[in-house]
Amino acid sequence: MIHQTFKELFGAEPEAVSRAPGRVNLIGEHTDYNDGFVLPTAIDRATEFAGRRRSDRTVVLYSVDFEARVEFSLDSIPFDREHTWSNYFRGVCKYLEEEGHRLCGAEVVFGGNVPRESGLSSSASVEVGAVAFWRTLLGFPLAPRDGIRLARRAENQFVGVPSGIMDQFASALSRRNHALFLDCRDLSYRHVPLSQGVRMVVFNSGVKRALAQSEYEVRVRQCQQAVAQLQSERLAIHSLRDVEPVALEARAGRLDDVSLRRARHVVSENQRVLEAVQALEQGELARFGALMNASHESLRKDYEVSSPELDTLVELARNQPGVLGARMTGAGFGGCTVNLVHAEAAEAVYKNVQDEYARKRGYRPEAYIFQASDGAWAGE
Ligand code: GLA
Repeated sequence: MIHQTFKELFGAEPEAVSRAPGRVNLIGEHTDYNDGFVLPTAIDRATEFAGRRRSDRTVVLYSVDFEARVEFSLDSIPFDREHTWSNYFRGVCKYLEEEGHRLCGAEVVFGGNVPRESGLSSSASVEVGAVAFWRTLLGFPLAPRDGIRLARRAENQFVGVPSGIMDQFASALSRRNHALFLDCRDLSYRHVPLSQGVRMVVFNSGVKRALAQSEYEVRVRQCQQAVAQLQSERLAIHSLRDVEPVALEARAGRLDDVSLRRARHVVSENQRVLEAVQALEQGELARFGALMNASHESLRKDYEVSSPELDTLVELARNQPGVLGARMTGAGFGGCTVNLVHAEAAEAVYKNVQDEYARKRGYRPEAYIFQASDGAWAGE
């Protein structure tokens, strides 16, 4: 599709194409920036790029989704306040050059079907897709992990969102029909097979909260504060990843309430991910579902990143036959819930939760049944 659009717009064949998916996180929320564990998978929705070289240093970038075009020189790449959609690509160009990959001007078209501002990492799919595009176009060597770090750098430093590495990693290295078990400290990972007997049903609350980014930053800081307080209690740790549940509870009375609850979520969530991986590997889907449910409760009560809409979607899903587990996914304050559902019940759950939510809240949420899919560099 993107190939064709490029031909129509620029009257020539593209020299390179790339594709990077969005992701949904099954469990391990707000753990990545605490050096912890996550278990996401790429979804069958992606951003695609097509382009060719120019002989100068100008990049002409066209967004199919926004039906808009920008031009900039690789010699000085400013943040674009008007066409904010272009900043993910700009950031990637800037840091590729900074890290020693000489680029050339190019005409590039991109677009896709990852729902935006829905907690499904459309931005990571643009960043990883952009890195993949340049690597294919110019053929320079770049190990996947370095490409992932660079994509994250574009998000953190150019766009200015202090997120962890989960989204870019999932977009790059997920594998079809598998979940990706990632240790965000040393970036070691393993693909864990997902049973063919279950489906991932996702409901989109449709809520896009401005609060999401500022509250995300607050959570990052609160975790750092919790670490500092625990360190002053003579706990030799670098991050919340290093904290054992018993060590935390032993010091509970000496932490302030917010620090304690934020730490409790992260510490227990890391345990849940480890247990969830084990459950998946042993085919214990009910146990996996129960861990998802517990994750939601912890995010709601201790981490305080859920919302009434997300809670309603979770509640409605849990009352449906065939639902193994239901929880919010992504940063929170809106976005989506993810549900693990027996395959034969998936269609009914998909429809019933939408109907009941519409009855309760007056609008029908978008929903998706996603396939766990290959990342941009699956197999590398
Ligand atoms: C967002 C961030 C991720 C991660 C999640 C919460 O998706 O981009 O790095 O922190 O929130 O788990």
